[in-house]
Amino acid sequence: MDLRIATISFIFSLLITTNRAFDPCASQSDGSDLSVFPTYGKCSPFEPPKTDSWVNTVMKMASKDPERVKYLASLGAQKKVVSAPIASGQQLFNLANYVVRVQLGTPGQPMFMVLDTSNDAAWVPCAGCTGCSNTAFSTNTSSTYGWLDCSVPQCSQVRGSTCPLTGSVPCLFNQSYGGDSSFTATLVQDSLGLGADVVPNYHFGCISSVSGGSIPPQGLLGLGRGPLSLMSQSGSLYSGVFSYCLPSFKSYYFSGSLKLGPASQPKNIRTTPLLRNPHRSSLYYLNLTGISIGRVLVPIAPEHLAYDPITGAGTIIDSGTVVTRFVEPIYTAIRDEFRKQVKGPFSSLGVFDTCFAATSEAMTPRVTFHFTGLDLVLPVENSLIHSSSGTLACLSMAAAPNNVNSVLNVIANLQQQNLRIMFDVTNSRLGIARELCN
Ligand SMILES: *[C@@H]1O[C@H](CO)[C@@H](O)[C@H](O)[C@H]1NC(C)=O
Ligand SMILES: *[C@@H]1O[C@H](CO)[C@@H](O)[C@H](O)[C@H]1NC(C)=O
Ligand SMILES: *[C@@H]1O[C@H](CO)[C@@H](O)[C@H](O)[C@H]1NC(C)=O
Repeated sequence: MDLRIATISFIFSLLITTNRAFDPCASQSDGSDLSVFPTYGKCSPFEPPKTDSWVNTVMKMASKDPERVKYLASLGAQKKVVSAPIASGQQLFNLANYVVRVQLGTPGQPMFMVLDTSNDAAWVPCAGCTGCSNTAFSTNTSSTYGWLDCSVPQCSQVRGSTCPLTGSVPCLFNQSYGGDSSFTATLVQDSLGLGADVVPNYHFGCISSVSGGSIPPQGLLGLGRGPLSLMSQSGSLYSGVFSYCLPSFKSYYFSGSLKLGPASQPKNIRTTPLLRNPHRSSLYYLNLTGISIGRVLVPIAPEHLAYDPITGAGTIIDSGTVVTRFVEPIYTAIRDEFRKQVKGPFSSLGVFDTCFAATSEAMTPRVTFHFTGLDLVLPVENSLIHSSSGTLACLSMAAAPNNVNSVLNVIANLQQQNLRIMFDVTNSRLGIARELCN
């Protein structure tokens, strides 16, 4: 073993030891820093799907991407496209991939909610819910709980609300989820505990019945940009700023973190403007201006990258999609340039169409996303994924799923691992800094 490898493995074992000394699943106590876990990691209560390897777990999670990309694409689109059968104006989400532990109610009840940056509203299963899992929020043991009726302005901001024109009746709403599931909920309010912080009177959906198997078992925390999102509801507490660092899917034992408020953010972080789409106020659009493979700027016609609020075209960053998807012409151009620079032959593995002998990996070019004012050079683990045997490495991106007439590019989880991604909603900018949060 050469000295460098010896040193690295020594540091690695130190890291493991250090992490074991602390509880890797615990949140920091100052409240600004909450642990974020892979849904199927050790710190999460959820059972992983029965597969033989983590790469197959990723594949399984990625198999839900097409539904999510369809849904995301339909949101940004014009009315005539929204009414197309693929989305029917309803919500189609995905089993989200990262969860955060919050406390709901007074005294606080712990819930592991999925992080979703493309959704505003939050919802959790409530006690007595039909079809929910065992962990539900007990409303009658919380002293700060209250339900909201149809007259509150927030009720009209919830999708799928079913209010009559008049009357003091609970604000009920119906939404579909994950393509095969739906739920009914009441808009309620209670205290939301995030580490040591408390957001009082937080509005969320209290689920009373679900059908289908895709509803996140302990709810979803909406981190989008719209009026019902956590940032809007927490007001001056966090000044509209949050960030996350997603640990690698592979890092079963480790957690990343969610940092809330400007004070806890890195001082030196490069940023790019967030673009606002009035037709889809939840989504975080970025100006992706080009992609390089090694030193080569991939030739892409500017119209494929252009942001268009009317059609919804452009690029978003999302916490709930697994594999980054580009519209077909962009993906083909990236892949062709990548193949030019890497030794073939190439084969396919699941959604990935550019796999090659892992022995050629050391020579693979870096992938750079160019945003306005910010170049993101992807760490190698964010551009390559390995087969379970370890013999193949694959370019870990894909074209928009078949049958999705999509104009939207989605920067997804695999490409965000071990980066701090800061959303400054108030100043409409997104920051990215390298951070090892494994
Ligand atoms: C709270 O509600 C649940 C289910 O609705 C019920 O089983 C339980 O007895 C109630 N607890 C209290 C303290 O009222
Ligand atoms: C929700 O949807 C279900 C199934 O479509 C329907 O039976 C139910 O009445 C709806 N609930 C409300 C409150 O609209
Ligand atoms: C995105 O960047 C390109 C290249 O700098 C620029 O021409 C375009 O106006 C930008 N688009 C938006 C919406 O800012």
